[in-house]
Amino acid sequence: MPVKATLKAIAVAAGLLAGAGLGALPARAAGGETALPHVNFSFDGLFGHFDRASAQRGFQVYKEVCSNCHSMHLLSYRNLRELGLSEAQVRGIAATVQVKDGPNDEGEMFERPGRPSDRFHSPFPNEQAARAANNGALPPDLSLITKAREGGAQYVHALLTGYEDPPAGVTLMPGMNYNKYFPGHQIAMAQPLSAEGQVEYTDGTKPTVEQMVEDVAQFLTWAAEPELEQRKAMGVKMVLFLVILGGLAYAVKRKVWADVH
Ligand code: HEC
Repeated sequence: MPVKATLKAIAVAAGLLAGAGLGALPARAAGGETALPHVNFSFDGLFGHFDRASAQRGFQVYKEVCSNCHSMHLLSYRNLRELGLSEAQVRGIAATVQVKDGPNDEGEMFERPGRPSDRFHSPFPNEQAARAANNGALPPDLSLITKAREGGAQYVHALLTGYEDPPAGVTLMPGMNYNKYFPGHQIAMAQPLSAEGQVEYTDGTKPTVEQMVEDVAQFLTWAAEPELEQRKAMGVKMVLFLVILGGLAYAVKRKVWADVH
């Protein structure tokens, strides 16, 4: 029937719009790169949301492992409140780092314990120091990494699980590691998560390598796109609005033209 068909068409069109704008993951260019293995993340799809327990564990992985080399300069400790950490927990975490502040009344810089309003502590004072400690390579800031790399969280997951021995005939440059998913396959970062239990979770979750990788990918996605949930909720409202508006428009059209036929 026409009414049904029209409503269906509207719904399909709205679905397509939503899919294009909200649910779809950026596809990886088929430029000879290895296809990424697919992981289901809680934030995928139209009704996607963050798994806060996983993101909290992911922060722990970042703090204990990744933050030895990578900064996340766009985040402040107080942002962690959005992941469900208490004020006291955030204070405690911030206080574990020493922050350079000043000048004081004598004109001197001094160190003090971190506060919730401080940005995440960077492991190196400058780029040169970061490179010197990493075989010349620069560990990129991870604040926006899931947006900066095609594939986002899927890429981060693939990268962290993509280490293997180089295939026969491939010689690695000194200090480099073979990774299936890194463009060019030679990466200066050694496999950061390689053994179960590298991080000890307090919520009873088993810290397998896969679990730690998924948790840190969840955390990095939240860090790069904290507004993802609102964006998706707004998308769902828009779709509903369009469907209702479409239905109304059709009903009005039928009414107006009823006598003409
Ligand atoms: C020992 C230092 C070190 C640790 C620890 C470390 N990384 Fe790295 N990471 C690097 C370096 C160096 C690079 C740059 C590699 C290159 O360009 O060859 C890098 C690059 C990356 C990249 C970018 C890859 C790309 O596509 O350019 C990501 C993502 C990443 N690291 C994530 C992580 C995560 C997540 C952790 C924690 C689980 C972590 N790293 C731990 C040193 C480290």
